[in-house]
Amino acid sequence: MLKNDKLEEWDRDNFFHSSTHLADFARGDLPQRVITGAKGCHIEDRDGNRLLDAFAGLYCVNVGYGRSEIAEAIAEQAHELAYYHSYVGHGTEASITLAKMILDRAPENMSKVYFGLGGSDANETNVKLLWYYNNILGRPEKKKIISRWRGYHGSGLMTGSLTGLELFHKKFDLPLTQVLHTDAPYYFRRDDLNQSEAEFTAHCVAELEAMIAREGADTIAAFIGEPVLGTGGIVPPPEGYWPAIQAVLDKHDILLVADEVVTGFGRLGSMFGSDHYGMKPDLITIAKGLTSAYAPLSGSIVSEKMWKVLEQGTDENGPIGHGWTYSAHPIGAAAGVANLKLLDELKLINNAGETGAYLNAAMRDALGEHANVGDIRGTGMLCAVEFVQEREGRKFFDASEKTGPTIAAALLEQGVIGRAMPQGDILGFAPPFCLTKAEADEVVGKTAKAVKSVLG
Ligand SMILES: Cc1ncc(COP(=O)(O)O)c(C=O)c1O
Repeated sequence: MLKNDKLEEWDRDNFFHSSTHLADFARGDLPQRVITGAKGCHIEDRDGNRLLDAFAGLYCVNVGYGRSEIAEAIAEQAHELAYYHSYVGHGTEASITLAKMILDRAPENMSKVYFGLGGSDANETNVKLLWYYNNILGRPEKKKIISRWRGYHGSGLMTGSLTGLELFHKKFDLPLTQVLHTDAPYYFRRDDLNQSEAEFTAHCVAELEAMIAREGADTIAAFIGEPVLGTGGIVPPPEGYWPAIQAVLDKHDILLVADEVVTGFGRLGSMFGSDHYGMKPDLITIAKGLTSAYAPLSGSIVSEKMWKVLEQGTDENGPIGHGWTYSAHPIGAAAGVANLKLLDELKLINNAGETGAYLNAAMRDALGEHANVGDIRGTGMLCAVEFVQEREGRKFFDASEKTGPTIAAALLEQGVIGRAMPQGDILGFAPPFCLTKAEADEVVGKTAKAVKSVLG
């Protein structure tokens, strides 16, 4: 549809791309790809390539592309009321309805939703609420937040600090001092190869206990974690992890923030990862799957326990000093309402569970025995293949060889998008929930070919 011949030049001259090697891009060493359309699990670029998007954008287009029900809801809302703010008690039919729909689906004991625009700002909101909460309770020292290495919680100042990936800290003067990082719950990358999964969980719990003892529980407000590590490598937790972590947090009066930006609204084959793993969060971060990315919208779901203290805080201090111009934007909210209805009507969460299990099993069948495949893991509509130089002794490739990105590029050559995860040689998949078994077979077959073309 875009006929502008100058587009590529304008792109290089004017556009600052996210997470991009800027100098390579400027030199023309990085491909430019202008996306023009999409339907179901496929996207199209302006050169006429049709690609199977097995990462659903950035694991967000959960209902698939081109859903006219959501497009029409957005258009209707834009015609009727494109904008009004949510300050001082204002709302719109869409935002109020969506808050009710979220709470109807949320884990027990959750009370209210604060709407933002993306996962990063929702986690910034969460940190402010945690600090406010402890100030109202007269515990001004209880402010540190524990995150995990390899966690991903955004790329703002505080959320980039919570993120436990090197690339997001380096040269940005992050992490900020209020953030502590504990071990990643990443069994395949454990230090002691002799540990069983249960022993590794006990190790993670002991590390957390030691950190709390060192810092003092009265200085720690909360622990934040994704139910399944996402950008850090797509890693389901080791056996018994969340109940054991939850017990430690409860013992020390440390709140839990479940960052469900990826897992919320069905990616694990269940509505929320917190329910899936028996977590009892005090705050839940939601974004991506809330609108399937048809419009930007995020949320912080606040528990009843925290809500009571926030109310008390405003009685003592006046209105809560927190808000964005675009909080609860009606167009985002209308997209959210239509998206959640579609998830129910088409039973897409069931499909995420069933076809996701099929995808994971097929990936294991195809690549489980390959000499350079160290681990294949996943749950729901999430799957990852981790490459090693040698399986014996789990010897990793040198990062400079760029094995993961090279395999992702070989896969793209065949028309399938997987994601080379940013830290390690890990190829990730997080397709739309409407993926069919035939499409899952295509993803697996072409991945096997790509691996063979690069590693033999
Ligand atoms: C678990 C998690 N939290 C937060 C974020 C940040 O969301 P956003 O990129 O919308 O700011 C992401 C983004 O990938 C995420 O995966």
